[in-house]
Amino acid sequence: MHVVVTFESRTGNTATAASHVAKRLERAGVDVSLFPVDEPDYGALAQADAVIVGTWCGGLFFFGQHPGGAGKIAGELPDLWDKATFAFVTYAHNPGKAADKLGEVLEAMGSVNLGVGTIHRNKIDEEAAAFVDTVLSEFASA
Ligand SMILES: Cc1cc2nc3c(=O)[nH]c(=O)nc-3n(C[C@H](O)[C@H](O)[C@H](O)COP(=O)(O)O)c2cc1C
Repeated sequence: MHVVVTFESRTGNTATAASHVAKRLERAGVDVSLFPVDEPDYGALAQADAVIVGTWCGGLFFFGQHPGGAGKIAGELPDLWDKATFAFVTYAHNPGKAADKLGEVLEAMGSVNLGVGTIHRNKIDEEAAAFVDTVLSEFASA
């Protein structure tokens, strides 16, 4: 199985989370390509069985939460026709529905979004692990 992990990050938390997600998948035997959304590996995207997209939560901390990098993700990545995707956001206090909204952005790009996750910026290791578990269990049940 080949999975792309791609991310948009301003201050590094989502980049770190994406790297943790990639390492955990590799440990589970998955072939992984990792890159920021503005340096897309088109070959890897074309080959991927699934694409995981991460970004940061923007908003007013307790309302108006949204996927902060959504415009860049939609602008930089190619269409994801019929690709299976998973979405995650990193956040500081309360992600609201930002991860669900990122899933909707990916579906608007043509994907079938299979799951979303949130990763607190101070608990990246454990919450990235939990997110990877949900991704792997989705594949196991497919
Ligand atoms: C303009 C701005 C708005 C933010 N709004 C929220 C928010 O509404 N809720 C939240 O939990 N975190 C919020 N955050 C925190 C970021 O989502 C968090 O620090 C994230 O991990 C940053 O990811 P990055 O380092 O990859 O850029 C906000 C950060 C910025 C810069």
